[in-house]
Amino acid sequence: TKAVTIHTLAELRARGEKIAMLTCYDASFASLMDRCGVEILLIGDSLGMVCNGHPSTLPVTVAELAYHTAAVARGSKSAMVMADLSFGSYGTPETAYHNAVQLMQAGAHMIKIEGGAWLADTVRFLTERGVPICAHLGLTPQSVHQLGGYKVQGKTADSAELLKRDAMALQAAGAAVVLLEAIPAALGKEVTDLLTVPTIGIGAGPDCSGQVLVMHDLLGVFPGRKARFVKNFMDGQTSIDGAITAYVSAVKDGSFPALEHCF
Ligand code: KIV
Ligand code: NA
Repeated sequence: TKAVTIHTLAELRARGEKIAMLTCYDASFASLMDRCGVEILLIGDSLGMVCNGHPSTLPVTVAELAYHTAAVARGSKSAMVMADLSFGSYGTPETAYHNAVQLMQAGAHMIKIEGGAWLADTVRFLTERGVPICAHLGLTPQSVHQLGGYKVQGKTADSAELLKRDAMALQAAGAAVVLLEAIPAALGKEVTDLLTVPTIGIGAGPDCSGQVLVMHDLLGVFPGRKARFVKNFMDGQTSIDGAITAYVSAVKDGSFPALEHCF
């Protein structure tokens, strides 16, 4: 199959086909997800929690993300490889660029950063230098201590308005994808309708252009607290292959997320 590029994602959005994305941290799972039709593999800083047992994503480093990005890139054939920049690694455009280069050289095709309009200059700086950007809005886990916990965002009229302005500013700055985490489903739809670039939701309702889950949540092996938006796709399956295929089908046919997974 053909490599998934920035154009593929735009085409999928344009023709209304949902984009299936999963987190991935090693070559074997990358190969499996790739074969199952997952379009984007995210080396998320969630690896600090699901692989290394940290209580948050804050301790994760660029070097750790680069190590896992290289493994995922070696295992996948056609999926897009997206990597997170870690907490504290994109405070200025120059720092962000330096660290993004480490991840791109490890095999990433797109870089994800958490934050609103304050990142517009960084998004422009990186996209001008050949680094495609996914902007992560809503519940941004690297800001857990600023947010005062893992809480649904954009519930008030003011915060919803701010999130929409952030999304527009980041798209205008060159973001190719906007990821929305833990916001009301109605706001997920509004933002998606407002933007021309694809949106990827996790707890952002069924109307985003695509969906993402942490693979450990999809497989039901993460021992921590289970967020409302999580679904264990191993239920009713007898293989990991089956669970990933079921996830891709459920995203594509719109049956995931269901009402019970939404805010
Ligand atoms: O790190 C991660 O896994 C993420 C997804 C939850 C979007 O950023
Ligand atoms: Na992340």
